[in-house]
Amino acid sequence: MTSILELKQLSKSYPGVAALKPFDLSFRKGEVHALLGENGAGKSTLIKLITGAVRADAGAVILDGEDVLGHDPAGTLSRGIAAIYQEFSLFPDLTVAENVFFGRQITKGGMIDRRAMEEETARILKDLGTDISPRAPARSLSVGHQQLVELAKSVSRNIRVLIMDEPTAPLTNREVGFLYKVVAKLKARGVTIIYISHRLKEVFDLCDRVTVLRDGDLVSTVDTADTTEAELVRQMVGREVIHDHPVSTAQQGEVLLEARGLSSPKVHGVSFKVRAGEILGLAGLVGAGRTETARLVFGADKRDAGEVIVDGKVAQIRSPRDAIAAGIGLIPEDRKSQGVLLNQSVTFNAVFAALSRVSPGLLADARAERAAAQKLCDQLRIKTPTLEQLVGRLSGGNQQKVVLAKWLLTESRVLIFDEPTRGIDVGAKEEIYALMRRLSDRGAAIIMISSEMPELLGMSDRILVLAEGRVAGELSKDEFDQERVLRLASGLEMMGETA
Ligand SMILES: Nc1ncnc2c1ncn2[C@@H]1O[C@H](COP(=O)(O)OP(=O)(O)OP(=O)(O)O)[C@@H](O)[C@H]1O
Ligand SMILES: [Mg+2]
Repeated sequence: MTSILELKQLSKSYPGVAALKPFDLSFRKGEVHALLGENGAGKSTLIKLITGAVRADAGAVILDGEDVLGHDPAGTLSRGIAAIYQEFSLFPDLTVAENVFFGRQITKGGMIDRRAMEEETARILKDLGTDISPRAPARSLSVGHQQLVELAKSVSRNIRVLIMDEPTAPLTNREVGFLYKVVAKLKARGVTIIYISHRLKEVFDLCDRVTVLRDGDLVSTVDTADTTEAELVRQMVGREVIHDHPVSTAQQGEVLLEARGLSSPKVHGVSFKVRAGEILGLAGLVGAGRTETARLVFGADKRDAGEVIVDGKVAQIRSPRDAIAAGIGLIPEDRKSQGVLLNQSVTFNAVFAALSRVSPGLLADARAERAAAQKLCDQLRIKTPTLEQLVGRLSGGNQQKVVLAKWLLTESRVLIFDEPTRGIDVGAKEEIYALMRRLSDRGAAIIMISSEMPELLGMSDRILVLAEGRVAGELSKDEFDQERVLRLASGLEMMGETA
């Protein structure tokens, strides 16, 4: 098979980290090639070196015989290499169509042809299986929809290599299905796809070959058909990982949080209870109102009706500050913009939600803060050269671990996790599950929003399914069943009033 893209001894170091060590790797024309590795293994660095988003220290990137190293992303894009990054690059104030055609507007008689761009955008999006309006401003879209627009941006161009950095992380099952179709279509056109994901199922569903990186170095490249999940995990992590979800050992206590008739434009009279020592799973499709419900409880959005009862008393929650004071924590889905301060250190980010606990008294106790941050870094395997490193310089998955760390330190009695393991590698997932279970066993009430069925079924003690902003059903542990959850979530089945 002919190779289209060859990497030769490409390398990149940052102070204290060899992000990518020199090795050779080639990609074949029309193959789907997975790139696997733990958080911080060097996957994103590798693709940023290919596109020119980051300058390599040394090496070569040969595209169809031509060394393209030294070009910036616009230069490599014009040569046919497109990338969808972990961090999106949409302009929030431009419309969907303006984003898709950014930098290469369609013109007619010297005028920008808005109609043509909108029609073309609508066509591409329809092809991708969505009906997102080309005129909607990017800021109004959900994370999942933003991802699809990113994809539209790439497939609307004539590309030879498409790199996708965790494309499915923000997508629901249905959207993942569309993505699979797009990948198949592009592959049939001879496009080479480099596919980064922490979900091994996708690697086996979609990819012809798989390359594993560890600590910036190449571990192996094999045909997907010749390997197994267990083998790949071993190569990534360098140890055996046993997949299991820790079961509750605690007795469930009193009701810590009750939501009564929560309403907003997207949520319609949602009610539920969570007990001490219980993990309540919130299931539903994107747009079902799970994140919106969480934000209402947390005071991040305005309630039109309903109340939040904490410890049996109606809590006056008008802002996140009120919620935190009432003992409620929310670990948001969109961690990049809501969860971390990218220009602050790991220590600062990890401890600042918990300052009152770590450093009692008015003066911050720097030693106690460092010790607490160090402990969490060890527990969650946060890969950072020092505790002073700015969070913005960590790999995507490690940034997410920092946000989790911050909340795990607090003494919140009610914790809401929105997609807690999105973008997190297999090894650290197990740690996060164990930590969540430990918190609940110590008496916290946990609400976990998750789109990953194994996680939802494995971690929850009870599952509440939302559909179109309403409670569609509730399943106790002995009723758990994937099919049932999906039917309720898609509105195919309705249960009577619950909660
Ligand atoms: N701008 C930067 N400054 C300093 N260090 C960096 C920078 N960018 C990346 N690194 C470091 O390089 C290493 C590789 O990071 P990279 O983002 O490539 O990991 P990754 O495999 O994509 O991980 P993830 O699965 O978490 O996305 C990490 O240790 C990271 O902290
Ligand atoms: Mg990455």
